[in-house]
Amino acid sequence: MNLRIASYEEYQEKYQHSVNDPEEFWSDIAQTFLWKEPWTNTLNWNFTEPKITWFDGGKLNITENLLDRHLETRGDQVAFFWEPNEMDADGKTITYRELHAEVCKLSNAMRGLGVEKGDRVCIYMPMILESIVAILACARIGAVHSIVFAGFSSNALADRINDAQAKLVITSDGLNRGNKKVDIKTMVDEALLSCPSIEHSIVVNCTHSNPEMKSGRDVWYNEIMEGQPTTCEAETMDAEDLLFILYTSGSTGKPKGVVHTCGGYMVYTSYSFQNVFQHEQGDVFWCTADIGWITGHSYIVYGPLLAGATSVIFEGIPTYPDAGRFWQICEKYKVNQFYTAPTAIRSLMGHGLEVVNKYDLSALKVIGSVGEPINEEAWQWYFDHIGKKNCPVVDTWWQTETGGIMLSGLGNLSPMRATHAGYPLPGIQPVLLDGDGNEIHESEQEGYLCIKFPWPSILRTTYGDHERCKNVYFSNYDNYYFTGDGAKRDANGMYRIIGRVDDVINVSGHRFGTAEIEDAINTNKYAIESAVVGFPHDIKGQGIYAYVVVDPSKMDDQDTIIASVMDSVSKGIGKIAKPDKIQLVSGLPKTRSGKIMRRILRKIAEGEKSNFGDTSTLLDPDLVIEIVENSI
Ligand code: PRX
Repeated sequence: MNLRIASYEEYQEKYQHSVNDPEEFWSDIAQTFLWKEPWTNTLNWNFTEPKITWFDGGKLNITENLLDRHLETRGDQVAFFWEPNEMDADGKTITYRELHAEVCKLSNAMRGLGVEKGDRVCIYMPMILESIVAILACARIGAVHSIVFAGFSSNALADRINDAQAKLVITSDGLNRGNKKVDIKTMVDEALLSCPSIEHSIVVNCTHSNPEMKSGRDVWYNEIMEGQPTTCEAETMDAEDLLFILYTSGSTGKPKGVVHTCGGYMVYTSYSFQNVFQHEQGDVFWCTADIGWITGHSYIVYGPLLAGATSVIFEGIPTYPDAGRFWQICEKYKVNQFYTAPTAIRSLMGHGLEVVNKYDLSALKVIGSVGEPINEEAWQWYFDHIGKKNCPVVDTWWQTETGGIMLSGLGNLSPMRATHAGYPLPGIQPVLLDGDGNEIHESEQEGYLCIKFPWPSILRTTYGDHERCKNVYFSNYDNYYFTGDGAKRDANGMYRIIGRVDDVINVSGHRFGTAEIEDAINTNKYAIESAVVGFPHDIKGQGIYAYVVVDPSKMDDQDTIIASVMDSVSKGIGKIAKPDKIQLVSGLPKTRSGKIMRRILRKIAEGEKSNFGDTSTLLDPDLVIEIVENSI
């Protein structure tokens, strides 16, 4: 079960093995798990359809691997320390044995509600232990979970429920976030007005807000758990059966449901977790992500539990009650591996060192970064003041679609270079392509980051629309998986991620499609048309700049219009997607063929006043002058 590589030389050997004989390499690793029946075919693949299967014919249940398998050896070991939002409130701990019992109880309860293998279950929940139980109960009975980040609006939630045709939603009455309480049950109630596939909702009593419970549909979590047996037979799943759907944004259209399957995802998340964080038995791991994002799925839930780790899960936010909260938690639980996002580091840096130095961070061994490029200043601060210059920073590059970490140092084994994600994990074969699809072999060249061979946790499809999966990821370059990112490789072969090369923007590590935000803006009664671009933002990495076309005769009431547009985005997507800047304009710069020249809008958002390159194809060049003059 110990899958940890112990030296850089061993990494190099393993890497070579994984390229020379990927099937043997992954087969050896997969064999360390518990299978009900062995697989017959390690890998089948083509990137044309695409069709990728790993461990085909194998039968398993992932929860037996992350719970039952541990009961004998570490049943009484803590699986999670739950740290509540309020610093002086009592936390909770749950051992592997207790977690197993809770998961079994909820599995039985869900079966009692008629949830069966293959049914989709939406989870819209805070960062509480019941959320972990809910996720694992789905996996235990073979239901496909679709977790929706609880910051998304009721409209966004309804879209995701309807796309997946979910039968059950698991939620809570509310959630605590810093000094705010949010009634998320109300959001669910609103969403369910347009979700006919939902038969029931299970509601955890988290904030005691006493919500209205719809008779026949809503049931309280604690009531439905009462008297349930603490064992539950785990459903037998094929390696390629769906484990979960997770919606993520792309360049066009509505967010798509990325599909991950049971066998490959299990093998890869466990392997990558143990190696990147160099996690040893007895260590305490803390990933600060939300369970609603892929980082939470892979490195709060599946990776650590598969490895039998003890983790921290935190309900609150980094700045409540003050900017020392993360460090106080690290001290309290003697966290050994800490994993967070650059946006959190940048925002905490601004609060000075007093709130850091108050706490004992000496247990830290590895500190990680994820979600967006980490700038040099943030990297250095993290390394100097959190890692105290003796913890490696693992800058982990990956995506919802990749399921697990793809490029990263492995704890303190690998060479490290600030702002560079570094080397590929064993089994990962990255390449940089030029605009014509040729592989770039020289160093220090920028190219499109693609992957040329499948790894076990690569996405299998986009739910209900395989064609979209093919078009977005496998059609830009024949026989390559296209990541949507640009990258550079240095003379030592280390990768540095430049950022997205498509119309996806990354705001505080959250991914949004510009088209998705435009769609939300265009529902506004004042908006005739809009264009959204990203711009560099000191804390968030990228900010959202929206150009909204309104009737010039209404321009004098700008504040009302802007507030109303903000509201449309909050309702359409959620507060997390609210533009940082909204500029009301009389028109958008378009080519004669009607295409918006986003390149110019991006430059204006970056503060550029002239030098827009070739503008000869513009329909109305004066418009650019107007937009520049009024830019924010
Ligand atoms: O642009 C890359 C950026 O985040 C994108 C993936 O977003 P998402 O699917 O939401 O997953 C985020 C968490 C894995 C990527 O295409 N990204 C992620 N990690 C890094 C990064 N950019 C630079 N460095 C990273 N370490």
